[in-house]
Amino acid sequence: MGKNKWARFQENETFALLHQPVFKDLFNGDFALKGKWGEEFFKNANPIVLELGCGRGEYTVELARKYPEKNFIGIDIKGARLWRGAKTATEEHLKNVSFVRTKVDVVNSLFAEGEVSEVWITFPDPQPTKSRKRLCAPMFLNRYAKFLAPDGIIHLKTDSQMLHEYTKAVLAKNGLRYTLADNDIHAHGKSSGSVLEIQTTYEKIFVDMGFPITYLQFHLPQNAVLVEPEDFIFDMNVPKAKTRG
Ligand SMILES: C[S@@+](CC[C@H](N)C(=O)[O-])C[C@H]1O[C@@H](n2cnc3c(N)ncnc32)[C@H](O)[C@@H]1O
Repeated sequence: MGKNKWARFQENETFALLHQPVFKDLFNGDFALKGKWGEEFFKNANPIVLELGCGRGEYTVELARKYPEKNFIGIDIKGARLWRGAKTATEEHLKNVSFVRTKVDVVNSLFAEGEVSEVWITFPDPQPTKSRKRLCAPMFLNRYAKFLAPDGIIHLKTDSQMLHEYTKAVLAKNGLRYTLADNDIHAHGKSSGSVLEIQTTYEKIFVDMGFPITYLQFHLPQNAVLVEPEDFIFDMNVPKAKTRG
């Protein structure tokens, strides 16, 4: 392990807002704050918003600055990336931010039914050949539906046109509609002044490369059991930069 990474892991231990539960414990049981994030961690009853696969947590931190009346939790498995968001939120004394270092796969051990108002999935790896690792695949959406409030919102931001179309196909296959869809959110300054103008590390890279950024917003029925759109074909010939993962 590099010296820099080791130093970040050490500093991570000092951040009160960063939780690093043992994976095995979450796999076998519930996290201590499940169902109690408002009462015991944030000390208020404000809506809870998640960012899944948050990397350095830019969306989480910027949303928290903009919306002090909501609570934000970023989740990622990479500790050295989470360090950035946890350090910024700690230094700025943001009381409405938390991070959890774990796999999104065990997210149901973290949140109780109806506990979450919104989920942001920001620039997930498209995983062209492994839908079981795709954070917007039915297997994952079914997990989110268990803890989303009845009118809860999912936001998907991605540079991958393929992933955007795939997620639309998931909704169509399961008789669901999206509430918003845009193939190029930053065109003609459209995103300016809106929540979509916040940019993550990956987003900045893809914007600089000239790739359009897409956005999809939708709701999920509580306890949904969605299935894969079996006839959807991920186009493996899309240029490499658009098929990371
Ligand atoms: C392409 S990066 C995007 C990071 C950030 N959202 C951004 O836009 O800069 C994808 C992130 O998702 C995380 N990730 C992917 N699958 C995950 C999983 N199952 N559980 C937790 N994190 C995951 C990776 O560790 C990585 O940081």
